[in-house]
Amino acid sequence: MSVIHQSLSTSISSSTSAFLGHRYLKSIKSSDVSIPGRINGVVKCVATPSTEKTVYKTTVSRNENMGKLQAGYLFPEIARRRAAHMLKYPDAQRSYALSTVEGYTGYGAEQGEKQLRASIAKTYYENLGIEEDDIFVSDGAKSDISRLQVLFGSKVTMAVQDPSYPAYVDSSVILGQTGQFQKDVEKYGNIEYMKCTPENGFFPDLSAVRRTDIIFFCSPNNPTGYAASREQLTRLVEFAKENGSIIVYDSAYAMYVSDDNPRSIFEIPGAKEVSMEVSSFSKYAGFTGVRLGWTAIPKELLYSDGFPVAKDFNRIVCTCFNGASNIAQAGGLACVSPEGIKAMHEVVGFYKENTDIIVETFNSLGFKVYGGKNAPYVWIHFPGQSSWEVFSEILEKTHVVTTPGSGFGPGGEGFIRVSAFGHRENVLEACRRFKQLYK
Ligand SMILES: Cc1ncc(COP(=O)(O)O)c(C=O)c1O
Repeated sequence: MSVIHQSLSTSISSSTSAFLGHRYLKSIKSSDVSIPGRINGVVKCVATPSTEKTVYKTTVSRNENMGKLQAGYLFPEIARRRAAHMLKYPDAQRSYALSTVEGYTGYGAEQGEKQLRASIAKTYYENLGIEEDDIFVSDGAKSDISRLQVLFGSKVTMAVQDPSYPAYVDSSVILGQTGQFQKDVEKYGNIEYMKCTPENGFFPDLSAVRRTDIIFFCSPNNPTGYAASREQLTRLVEFAKENGSIIVYDSAYAMYVSDDNPRSIFEIPGAKEVSMEVSSFSKYAGFTGVRLGWTAIPKELLYSDGFPVAKDFNRIVCTCFNGASNIAQAGGLACVSPEGIKAMHEVVGFYKENTDIIVETFNSLGFKVYGGKNAPYVWIHFPGQSSWEVFSEILEKTHVVTTPGSGFGPGGEGFIRVSAFGHRENVLEACRRFKQLYK
């Protein structure tokens, strides 16, 4: 959501820059750093006169107040210590290290740095049987969705939730998996649209879903904000197993889940034989611009001839990608440090508060409001109206940009999505304007 004339950028980069280097800085013991004037653990930089003998002295007395000063002026002093520290620990900032002969690194492993792969496996999949070499670090989930489509090729069939994040359908069209766009139903031929509406609790009626090779499934879902339950995901895994399908599970919003619903498809028994997972630091750490994500492909996931899917994906990654930026990976490593995880939860918590404000606003106006609980998106129903008409009216009368639901598939018609990614004051202002419009 954005308010025109006010920057409502989703960027939270100012908060993420603090992640960089935490991990390295933490490993430095205070005893390693020598600072002049350290007395009983208290750092003092006393402005004492020089004891050196001078050949000639004027007759002017020194201002005795100068001798009272306990330290150099604060900011030059910090800058001096920072420079000394950087010289001593060039590795403490990855970007600085890259400017040195010793610290420079060029192409890295296409699959990502070993330590980051291991930390992602531990942070998000501990006890779920996903290991370091199952993780492929990427420049974001969206790029991986396209790389996965290249992996699958043009002969597969695919299913998507309707509505869903548009990258699944569009990449499928580009790869040639679909037929033409059918204007009457607003669907591409040969794609199985799994309708997710309030009537079915935003989970598809699997008994009515045609078998496909690939099932893209996003939970919590963009745009509906709905997170599937353990029981529903168990049914999905069973459905995939019965049909011999592969689930591509998009968990880009998993950290927004605040109840007992699964955060990973691998929490479901048997899921490793039928699923892979794409995910991202974009919505957890404000890395929308930094760009970092990953795909987890278990060794148990095999093609019909028994060949491991991960091995082919490795080949695709090595051919189509030269690895995520080493600076972004250093940031990712900081994200999955204890301080980084805490900071990510704070970021998520902030946006969840924004979400509550939006939900309350539309509830108070008498709308049917969905999502919001486990996702930064609120899905609002305008029965009998076209999404684009609602979008235009809101834009025209409040200057607030929302997203028309039909942009996510025909199942989104009659809804708009309101995003919680914004500065608090802008969210409050937008909600004030919504109240004026719909009171
Ligand atoms: C469901 C979903 N998956 C993936 C992405 C893209 O993530 P990334 O920034 O890592 O490319 C988005 C971004 O909005 C998303 O909503």
